[in-house]
Amino acid sequence: MLSFILLAFLAHASPIKCLNHLQHKMNIIILAGQSNMAGRGGVLNDTATGVTTWDGVVPPECQPNPSILRLSANLTWVEAREPLHADIDYNKTNGIGPGMPFANAVLGKDPKFGVVGLVPCANGATNISQWQKGEFLYEQLVKRAQMAVESGGVYRAMLWYQGESDTENKQDADSYKARLERFFADLRSDLRTPMLPIFQVALASGSGPFIEEVREAQLKTSIPKVECVDAKGLPLEPDGLHLTTPAQLRLGQILADSFIHSLCNNGSRPTSPLH
Ligand SMILES: *[C@@H]1O[C@H](CO)[C@@H](O)[C@H](O)[C@H]1NC(C)=O
Ligand SMILES: *[C@@H]1O[C@H](CO)[C@@H](O)[C@H](O)[C@H]1NC(C)=O
Ligand SMILES: *[C@@H]1O[C@H](CO)[C@@H](O)[C@H](O)[C@H]1NC(C)=O
Ligand SMILES: *[C@@H]1O[C@H](CO)[C@@H](O)[C@H](O)[C@H]1NC(C)=O
Ligand SMILES: *[C@@H]1O[C@H](CO)[C@@H](O)[C@H](O)[C@H]1NC(C)=O
Repeated sequence: MLSFILLAFLAHASPIKCLNHLQHKMNIIILAGQSNMAGRGGVLNDTATGVTTWDGVVPPECQPNPSILRLSANLTWVEAREPLHADIDYNKTNGIGPGMPFANAVLGKDPKFGVVGLVPCANGATNISQWQKGEFLYEQLVKRAQMAVESGGVYRAMLWYQGESDTENKQDADSYKARLERFFADLRSDLRTPMLPIFQVALASGSGPFIEEVREAQLKTSIPKVECVDAKGLPLEPDGLHLTTPAQLRLGQILADSFIHSLCNNGSRPTSPLH
C-alpha cells in the first residue's frame, strides 16, 4: 500500500519536478529560422493585387500571458503578443508562428515553470548561408540572445525552423548539413553554452524541389542535444509553403512536448519506440 502511494506520488510529481528547477531565472527561448518560424499562419495573399494581410485571428493557444515576455527589436522586454516577429521580420506580413503555442503549452504543463522570455530572431526567405557566423542575422541573434541573458535569463533552448530556401538547387541542398552544423557549433560557442538544447523542425515544404535532401540532413543531424521534430504533413496555406494557423498550433505543441521530454530525460532520446 505504501509503495503504491509512493509510486502514485512519484508518477504525478516527476514531470513537474524536472521543469521547475530554474524558477528564479527567466527561461530564455530563442526563435530563429525563416518564415515558418516568424509565422505566416492566417496571412492571406490576394493573388489579384499581390497584397498580403494577416486575418488577425489569435486562438486561445496564442493568447498573451503575464508569464510570457518577448524581447522586442529595441531590446526591451514586453508582454508577448502575436505576431511575435512583427518588429523583427518587419518587411513581411507576419501572422501566427509556433512561439506562443509553444510557450503556452509549456506553462500549461507546469504553471510554476517561471517566466518564459521569447527572443524572436527569424527572418523570412533567408538561406542557411545568411545564418553563418559573421553574417548580419547570426550576429543579431547572438547580440539579442546575450542581451536576454544579461537581463536575468538563462538559455533554455533554441527553436529552429529553416531550410525552405535551401531547396532551390541541388548544390545548396547537399551543402545544407555542413552549413547547419557549423551554425549550431559557432552559436553554442559564442553563447558559451556548448550544450544549448536545440529543437529543429524538419521541413514541411520548400521553395524549390530538393525538399527531401534538406529534410534528410535535418533528420540525420547527430549532434548532442539537437532534437528534430517533423512538420511534414501539417496543413499549408494555399501558397504551398507556409503553415496554417492550426498547423502552427500543432507544431508549437509538438515542440513543447519534445522540450519537456528532453528536460525530464536530460536530453536523451528514447532508445526504442515507446509502443
Ligand atoms: C502573392 O501572390 C502573387 C501571385 O501569385 C505572388 O506573385 C506573390 O509573390 C505572393 N506574395 C507573397 C508575399 O507570397
Ligand atoms: C520598444 O519596443 C516596444 C515594443 O514594440 C515599445 O512598446 C516601446 O515603446 C519601445 N521602447 C522604446 C524606448 O522605443
Ligand atoms: C528590409 O528592407 C530594407 C530595404 O530593402 C533592407 O535594408 C532591410 O535589411 C530589410 N530588413 C529585414 C529585416 O528584412
Ligand atoms: C543566400 O541568399 C542570399 C541573399 O538572398 C544570396 O545572396 C546568396 O547567394 C544565397 N546563398 C546561397 C548559397 O544560396
Ligand atoms: C546530463 O547529461 C550530461 C551528459 O550528457 C551529464 O554531464 C550531466 O551531468 C547530466 N545532468 C543531470 C542533471 O543528470
